[in-house]
Amino acid sequence: MKIKVYPTPELQSQAAAKVIVDQIKVKPDTTLCLATGDSPFGTYREVVRMIKDPDIDISKIKVFGLDEWVGIPPNNTGSCHHYLHENFIGPLGIRPDHVHLFDGLSNDLDAECKRMTEAISIAGGIDIMIVGIGMNGHIGFNEPGVDVTLWSHAIELDEITKTVGQKYFQSATPLSKGITQGFQQVFTARTLMLLAHGRKKAPIIRQTVEAPVNVAIPSTLLRQHNNSLIVLDEEAASELSASFRN
Ligand code: PGA
Repeated sequence: MKIKVYPTPELQSQAAAKVIVDQIKVKPDTTLCLATGDSPFGTYREVVRMIKDPDIDISKIKVFGLDEWVGIPPNNTGSCHHYLHENFIGPLGIRPDHVHLFDGLSNDLDAECKRMTEAISIAGGIDIMIVGIGMNGHIGFNEPGVDVTLWSHAIELDEITKTVGQKYFQSATPLSKGITQGFQQVFTARTLMLLAHGRKKAPIIRQTVEAPVNVAIPSTLLRQHNNSLIVLDEEAASELSASFRN
């Protein structure tokens, strides 16, 4: 696992965006699996800005959603669907047939998971998976105690996730289940990039990097990925031991 630390969230976002854009330049049919939330917001904004360069062809890229709240409609501003359309898919004009997001309203979540796993397989796997990190170390909705053998799956949300998740919604919203790419997709993504900024993420980032690898802190499992990169701002990195700093 490589760790990169930048002085500000802006520089952190620019560096992460460059990883994505450089990949698209060398592989125009890049497959991206994208998180939502506060962590990747600046990175997506930078990607959009950099790609507006007319030399970069994005007509072949494919976008897969990392996760979704079960029971939340796609037009709810707190949904992952809405976020990705607002911040990435729409601004870049990604072709609808190149977009695969979880349907949180599906009445057959198993079929929905199978559909997603097959779509990724047909696309040849994920080139870059972008993830944030929950305050409890979750990755997507792979919550503490995660079964690492799973591909896409639906899961009961951790209490911390239900509480922290309220920040995405305009009014109090009951959250109980999520649907997510599983750790099998995490492990098979050719590049895994975790983004975190801000002081509040410092303790979980330290645990991610320095605690024993264990399913109680799912983010520690990223250390078993053979090409994982953590991109941090100074505040999120502030509790890391010196030996782990670049
Ligand atoms: P955040 O969420 O980027 O909004 O902090 C991260 C996560 O819960 O995975």
